[in-house]
Amino acid sequence: MSKVRAVLVGCGGMANGWLNAESTKKRVVIVGLVDVRIEATKAKIARFGYENIVTGTNLDAVLRETKPEVVFDCTVPEAHCPTTLSALKHGCHVMGEKPMSDTMPNARRMAAAASKAGKTYAVMQNRRYLTGIRALRRFLDRGALGKLVAVHSEFMLGAHFGGFRDIMEHVLLLDMAIHSFDQARFVMRADAQSVYCHEWTPRHSWYKHGPSASAIFEMTDGLVYTYQGSWCAEGCPTTWQCSWRLIGEKGTILWNGDENFRCEIVAGNTGFVRPVKEKKVPLICAKSLSGGHNSGIAHFLDCIRKGAVPETDCTDNIKSLAMVHAAIKSAETGKKTLVKV
Ligand SMILES: NC(=O)c1ccc[n+]([C@@H]2O[C@H](COP(=O)([O-])OP(=O)(O)OC[C@H]3O[C@@H](n4cnc5c(N)ncnc54)[C@H](O)[C@@H]3O)[C@@H](O)[C@H]2O)c1
Repeated sequence: MSKVRAVLVGCGGMANGWLNAESTKKRVVIVGLVDVRIEATKAKIARFGYENIVTGTNLDAVLRETKPEVVFDCTVPEAHCPTTLSALKHGCHVMGEKPMSDTMPNARRMAAAASKAGKTYAVMQNRRYLTGIRALRRFLDRGALGKLVAVHSEFMLGAHFGGFRDIMEHVLLLDMAIHSFDQARFVMRADAQSVYCHEWTPRHSWYKHGPSASAIFEMTDGLVYTYQGSWCAEGCPTTWQCSWRLIGEKGTILWNGDENFRCEIVAGNTGFVRPVKEKKVPLICAKSLSGGHNSGIAHFLDCIRKGAVPETDCTDNIKSLAMVHAAIKSAETGKKTLVKV
């Protein structure tokens, strides 16, 4: 199969994950690199040994010159909308980093532009492609817990990034919680309807705004999802995928966000606390769908070749983003807020 010609925009830290991914190396030819800092494009050329590729600070000019099929957007969140709109205007499919956009109106504009152009715009939600979450969803789909009734997640890390996050507004909700909210929709097979959220900046925070938040979501089908998170919590960290407690009609699963599960199912009808027995969550997932950025990119490339819709297509991912923006609005107003796509 011929390789896909792509331009990558935003040559910072995360771009390494895209350029290093096996699926990019095997199936993509990088024909151009763009960054507002030209030195960042040169650093990638030196690091990856690219030859004969176009670099620049102006995306339109590089797209005119290279005419790629695909644009990979690894810019900062506020640049996702203009980058995607330009790429679609040039007839490219786009896969971009999370979060889809910095605002809901921009996200709606991007989804409308993709639809009008007849092109695919998908968002990187790499945590969907890990073995643990795929195995968990398979286990839930087989009815082991009965119907889910509530899901609780906790994200606690002390992360010293430096850079744009130090001064970003609503940093945890906008830049990180999108992963957890998208994971919640994925495992619960439910969408959010409303949220109450409290967000704060702890006194020892090295972030300017909002590294800690707690949120309660009412989901479809009467489900409840709660999130507690902080990027300012040093010691006893959770994984980057959160620690989870999933409660169903028949029992509970604890999941560390990686590949560690503990599941207890009710095993009797009597007693103040009913007896339970442990059940194994088999670590089974489709080989083609495990492995973060690599699998996310592979899935996107498969879809554009087949004309299929990727599972993180903008039309779906906007529902995860809507959870973020409703949580932000709730935090700002102090009120329960509807989650509107
Ligand atoms: N999926 C994940 O697990 C994950 C992890 C980290 C970061 N990210 C996301 O990746 C994106 C980039 O994050 P990062 O950590 O690489 O940031 P970064 O600051 O290291 O890199 C961003 C790059 O984009 C460039 N840039 C900014 N505005 C631009 C514009 N208008 N046009 C072209 N280039 C522009 C910057 O100069 C910089 O080189 C963010 O959306 C972030 O949320 C995702």
